[in-house]
Amino acid sequence: MKYSVLPILILFVLAMTQPVQSQTPTYQNPDAAIEDRVEDLLNRMTVYEKIGQMTQLNITTINPTGKQADVELVEEKARDLIGNHHIGSFLNGEAVPPEQWFRFTNQLTRLAMEESRLGIPIIYGIDHVHGANYLEGGTIFPHNINLGATFNPQHSYNTGWVTAYETADLGHHWNFAPILDIGVNPLWPRIYETFGEDPRLAARMGESYINGYQRNEEIEPYNVAATAKHFLGYSDPKSGWDRSPAYIPKQAIHEFHRPSFQAAVDAGIKTVMLNSGEINGIPVHGSYELVTELLRDEMGFDGVVVTDWADIEKLVDFHFISENFKEATFRSVMAGIDMSMTPLTLEFNEAMQALVDEGRITEDRIDESVRRILRLKFELGLFEHPYPSNERLNRIGTTESKVKALEAARESIVLLRNKNGVLPVLNPTRILVAGPSADSKRNLAGGWTLAWQGANEERYPDDMMTILDALRAEYPDADIEHVTKTPSQQQIDAADLIVYAGGEEPYTEFVGNISDLTLPQNQLDEISRLSESATPLVLVLVQGRPRLITSVEEKTDAILHAGLPGFQGANAIAEIISGAVNPSGKLPISYPESPSHFTPYNHKPSANYDFDEEDANQISQVSQPTSLYPFGHGLSYTTFTYSDLRLSKSFIGENGSLSASVAVTNAGNRAGMESVLWFITDHVGTITRPVEELAHFEKIALEPGETKRVQFEIQPSEQLSYPDRNGQPILEEGYFTVKVGELTKEFRLEKNKDD
Ligand code: GLC
Repeated sequence: MKYSVLPILILFVLAMTQPVQSQTPTYQNPDAAIEDRVEDLLNRMTVYEKIGQMTQLNITTINPTGKQADVELVEEKARDLIGNHHIGSFLNGEAVPPEQWFRFTNQLTRLAMEESRLGIPIIYGIDHVHGANYLEGGTIFPHNINLGATFNPQHSYNTGWVTAYETADLGHHWNFAPILDIGVNPLWPRIYETFGEDPRLAARMGESYINGYQRNEEIEPYNVAATAKHFLGYSDPKSGWDRSPAYIPKQAIHEFHRPSFQAAVDAGIKTVMLNSGEINGIPVHGSYELVTELLRDEMGFDGVVVTDWADIEKLVDFHFISENFKEATFRSVMAGIDMSMTPLTLEFNEAMQALVDEGRITEDRIDESVRRILRLKFELGLFEHPYPSNERLNRIGTTESKVKALEAARESIVLLRNKNGVLPVLNPTRILVAGPSADSKRNLAGGWTLAWQGANEERYPDDMMTILDALRAEYPDADIEHVTKTPSQQQIDAADLIVYAGGEEPYTEFVGNISDLTLPQNQLDEISRLSESATPLVLVLVQGRPRLITSVEEKTDAILHAGLPGFQGANAIAEIISGAVNPSGKLPISYPESPSHFTPYNHKPSANYDFDEEDANQISQVSQPTSLYPFGHGLSYTTFTYSDLRLSKSFIGENGSLSASVAVTNAGNRAGMESVLWFITDHVGTITRPVEELAHFEKIALEPGETKRVQFEIQPSEQLSYPDRNGQPILEEGYFTVKVGELTKEFRLEKNKDD
């Protein structure tokens, strides 16, 4: 009997075409939907494993020496923390060579992926806040205060993009940047980390950074997460000291401190870090109102909220709102935090387990946070690509990236004063260079450079120039003399120019607290001494905050506000002094005139009444200058004139729009860039309105004699409404003034008008 092989053949074909019941868990299936993977994994986890995912520990808990700079792994330590305590995140370190970061991350990842029960990848957090500043050879951009001074979002985009480009391969998945606090208090030691005092400027610069960083398409197969920090109201401590109490009315929170974070949420920021301080007596880390009701419910953020450094512990020993760590854990988790940057102990894990055992924190509440954390890890592709790569280390510190940093530095330096056009200096024979920043690399870079405080001059790269080096390179035929002690009158008289580079040494956070904003007296004395001759004196301010120079301002011939221009900063300063670059920076902060009167440009009316004794009823409201140099001030080597301001209508309805345009002309004899800043004043508001507000800005380039018409659309919901104390928009009929350059025009908003 012939046996047909057909039935066997059919069975075989069927068997081969039926989907084999996958033994791969859903969470490990890259083709499964992220939400399904999250739920599948969550259901496999014990409570203690979940708590581990909510914990972030510092590198010092897994390295040999317990020192931040030690980017080496002690496997036993990591094996215990990951294997037994299921820690899901680590942070920090300092600038070490890329190969060292690669080795460290590779070891750490292998432990997590191969030696833990579920193989959940680590997410590594780090502070690359002005370029890859914790990576040896990384490109270091100007700090945000300088980026703000460019009024050019391209530069914050480039900063984010290059940072991702240089660090994503090394396992730096999570960058604690951009800082989106509003720089309204010049004493605050972190004002240089902000984009300045204006909410709209900070919003646009921050959004650009996030797009450059999170949407960098050349770091495949990796993805990275940015961090909007420090949510919110961190930057206006009443005393000016870091993390000291802030008293900010709710309405002001919405109007001035929320916009930059809202823009980040709208731009898809993946994580938020909380403000370490307190507002109106409530530490943010314990504020359900701010962390859940505002950030999540009102602003729509559903990503991961991480504490700042040891901020649960600070509720106990700094803010004194919790009697012990367990109560502080309860307070902050119920406020809405997802991850605790504990960062040095297992106290958070122990406290959470105890709170669960007591039934005070439910597994449902834990699942809320762990879902967000797992979702973040799935979105970053960490389950598929957990390991670092050392295949593209040649991306680090490329000439192209350094040029981006140089371009940002060039556009970030502000020419504050240029009496009689003393700058640029074309063919000097001899320049004296004095001051503490003359031959300093670290002063140019500021805090968060190579290490937390950025203070170790010896660590700075050999190829980085100081101002002295850069001037010598810029004027190869001139005698550039570095004077480290007061130069003789003969030296001074023999020079064509004196450059005094002053300002500040690096600092960040509370280390930079000061009680007097005045530039140190020894610098003021030296500047005065140097000003006594006929030799032109240029003051270069290399500083994180606007130190008071009022007493010497008129003794100088020119003043450059260099801020913290980064590793290419000296080059940019020298190019501006020589005229190779035409300065285009504008102040993103109000430069204070006196030691105890700090008023941002968009302040509420602070009238000064000036009246004649004899005729007391002749009271005239005199708006006195509230700063030495106002927000938006910045000179050029050419002259820009504004003319023909036009409004497309003299009134608009609440759903209408109005086009404002102005002609800008380069009336000088050299090309230049101009940031066109538009301001709007609301004449009358139920809640007092700022004397003026930045409504729009854009930067244009003009050849000599060239004119461009610049315009923008005024939309009531975008530029004319303002929030009430609950964050709800108020839009009121009435007159508004548009100002650009020195030109103004009025228009009226009429709510029931159609157009
Ligand atoms: C610091 C800073 C924060 C930083 C964090 C991790 O205390 O406040 O900006 O991201 O700790 O280093």
